[in-house]
Amino acid sequence: MADNNFDVVVIGAGPGGYVAAIRAAQLGMKTACVEAGGPSGGLGGVCNNVGCIPTKALLEAAMYARKVGALKDFGVTVGEVTLDLAQAGKRAKQVAGQGSRGVGFLFKKNKVESIEGWARLAGGGKVEVAAKDGTTRTITGKHIILATGSRPKSLPMLKIDEDRIWSSDTAVFPKATPASLAVVGAGAIGMEFADVYNAFGSKVTVIEALPQVLPLEDPESAQVVEKIYKKRGIDVFTGARLEKSEAGKEGVTLTLKDKAGADKTVQAERVLVAVGRAPIIDDLGLEKAGVQTDRGFIKVDDQLRTTAPNVYAIGDCARPPLLAHKAMHEAMAVIEGIAGVGHGMVDYGNIPAVTYCHPEVASVGMTEQAAKEKGYDVEVGVFPFSANGRARTAGETDGFVKIVRDKKYSELLGAHMVGAHVSEMIAEFVVGRHLETTVEDMDSAVHPHPTLSEAIGEAALAALGRAIHI
Ligand code: NAI
Repeated sequence: MADNNFDVVVIGAGPGGYVAAIRAAQLGMKTACVEAGGPSGGLGGVCNNVGCIPTKALLEAAMYARKVGALKDFGVTVGEVTLDLAQAGKRAKQVAGQGSRGVGFLFKKNKVESIEGWARLAGGGKVEVAAKDGTTRTITGKHIILATGSRPKSLPMLKIDEDRIWSSDTAVFPKATPASLAVVGAGAIGMEFADVYNAFGSKVTVIEALPQVLPLEDPESAQVVEKIYKKRGIDVFTGARLEKSEAGKEGVTLTLKDKAGADKTVQAERVLVAVGRAPIIDDLGLEKAGVQTDRGFIKVDDQLRTTAPNVYAIGDCARPPLLAHKAMHEAMAVIEGIAGVGHGMVDYGNIPAVTYCHPEVASVGMTEQAAKEKGYDVEVGVFPFSANGRARTAGETDGFVKIVRDKKYSELLGAHMVGAHVSEMIAEFVVGRHLETTVEDMDSAVHPHPTLSEAIGEAALAALGRAIHI
């Protein structure tokens, strides 16, 4: 007879949920993790199954597709090149499968009970799990962690049908290369898929309502990427207002007003709607359990406690930013808080953001403008990759490292980067800021030569007015 009483019940097995479950079990708590599964779920959640991981597999494919044309310069001549996006999608699915099985393995290793089904809070620490076969099991948790994640948002005039009008759930496993793709929304999702489909030969158009692509990033970073996208033949409309869409047999016609107020029409075989994600908060029994919501998210306090006793919410369902690494750290903070290990809360001011398009975009901390608005006396240093030896050897000279420092204490207020591998390099700034380093320290720590990371030391010097290589 299954034991239905747990110390911790986690709802959702995405990056927030599975990390919470494993950490709870490590700390000796009897733990269950309930996951509904379905096309965009499963162990590892959206991130592993249809999000972060398979898109990065596609972007890796896009990188090869693009680079193969430049190999001759490197003395490598290849024969006829054929691009097969469906194969790239197949590989992306395999990689996602590995990750999902890995989570299953970790659950077994840590003795987390993995329960498949849709969980609803029933109040008083009870959770009812409805399995696909129609059976229901009631379990209890002394502590309940809601980690239900998010789903793609639609637009009233552009309803996702996953046929002509896609969400990222469909774009991530392409069956063929569409002749043309219109991408609505130039956040991380839109820009990453625009990169992939362009590399594999679709005619891509990006439509963004705000004045720049990647609106949360430094404007200079966004400009570099937009310029490169346009050079690759991607049409980019920023400051555009989408007014109408008409889906027909041949494709979709989008009507928009461009930033000058002129009417434009964009015809595309498929459209990807990438206008953000909505937290999953419905049909969870929240009301029954006394868990309140706030503007679409589950309401939490600064310890991620909901309005119901011993019920917590982490990750996308709790509050922005909707990032896997933020969810994982919230998981650790909540579970270690419950266990009294004293992890401390997540440092929300030091969460890095990365968009894995080519060139990559990464940032942490404040932009120059945000720092000025906060009243800092700011000095900015920029070092371009064109002046970095390693970048030149790799033929990856696009982009820069930009440091925003406060003049008074030389505090590292923010870092903004565009270029190859900056997704890996941003961690140096995160650790530096975590350890409250000064900009001088960022330079005086010896960087190996020749590496892309030298651009960090040089940008630090530039912010101090004494760069060597520019
Ligand atoms: P997002 O919120 O980052 O970007 C959506 C974009 O759509 C915004 O720039 C917005 O101005 C634009 N938009 C909204 N309505 C529009 C309209 N009617 N017409 C034109 N543009 C419109 O959302 P996104 O890219 O869908 O990603 C969802 C979440 O997933 C984000 O929080 C993102 O950070 C996260 N994510 C992170 C990734 C990463 O870290 N690399 C990758 C993918 C997603």
